[in-house]
Amino acid sequence: MLSRRTVTTPIREVLDSRTFYHYLAAQYAEVVATRRAYFGAVDDIVVVHAPAAPAVLDIGCGDGVRAARLASAVGASHLVLVDIAQADTPSVLKGRFSLVTCLWNVLGHLDGKARQLALRNTADLLAPGGRLMFDVNNRYNAAHYGFAAAFRNFAKDIIGRGDGDYLATRNVGGRMITTEVHVFSQREVRSLLRSAGLAVHREWFVNYRTGHRCHTPWAGQLVVEAKVTPTVQRSRWRNRRSP
Ligand SMILES: C[S@@+](CC[C@H](N)C(=O)[O-])C[C@H]1O[C@@H](n2cnc3c(N)ncnc32)[C@H](O)[C@@H]1O
Repeated sequence: MLSRRTVTTPIREVLDSRTFYHYLAAQYAEVVATRRAYFGAVDDIVVVHAPAAPAVLDIGCGDGVRAARLASAVGASHLVLVDIAQADTPSVLKGRFSLVTCLWNVLGHLDGKARQLALRNTADLLAPGGRLMFDVNNRYNAAHYGFAAAFRNFAKDIIGRGDGDYLATRNVGGRMITTEVHVFSQREVRSLLRSAGLAVHREWFVNYRTGHRCHTPWAGQLVVEAKVTPTVQRSRWRNRRSP
């Protein structure tokens, strides 16, 4: 005999990034602790490959603890921290930075337009020889999202139906909170950088659980070191020299 079941569909309230992280704040250190191995690996990449960096800007700093640690490891004497609603506001930031960091899929919390603007602003803020170092969640990361999901994402991209937009949900003290998050492909990141006047200098894939470096996009999140393209660099140089 079939039994009657009442199925209740929980209503999911999708919060904007600011509200989502506001609720998450009390638990933030706990969440960070679950990604210790991954963060350690990404931080090592930043410290080993970042240029000598007297001035560091961290975009989407969270509690700022990680950025402060990194800035001190690269010998910075000046650290600027930026969080919500400032990354895409050009007037907020002045000066030139030898290193700009944007870690743990911060770019995935910006909508398409803000993401583009944030990258363009970042290109303007980089000192000559400066680097932008960031990591994003990779939608082909089968090791983390599962083969079916990664393959589905790949197939959708092939037929031009992939948009990379998802909902991320966390349990905060028994309350499920949800926000929109963008998950990237390597190709998409390269194209975003290109249209912001930036180019990939180096890329790595890092396993989200173990922090091990891997050689294929199917096994990790994407870490990128980017620099201003030679064309933008030359035009800056010309503008500086023109009367
Ligand atoms: C996953 S956390 C990463 C925090 C930090 N970068 C780290 O590695 O620990 C994402 C951060 O992006 C910030 N964020 C979201 N939207 C933003 C925006 N429009 N401008 C700047 N930061 C933003 C959030 O407030 C949050 O602190």
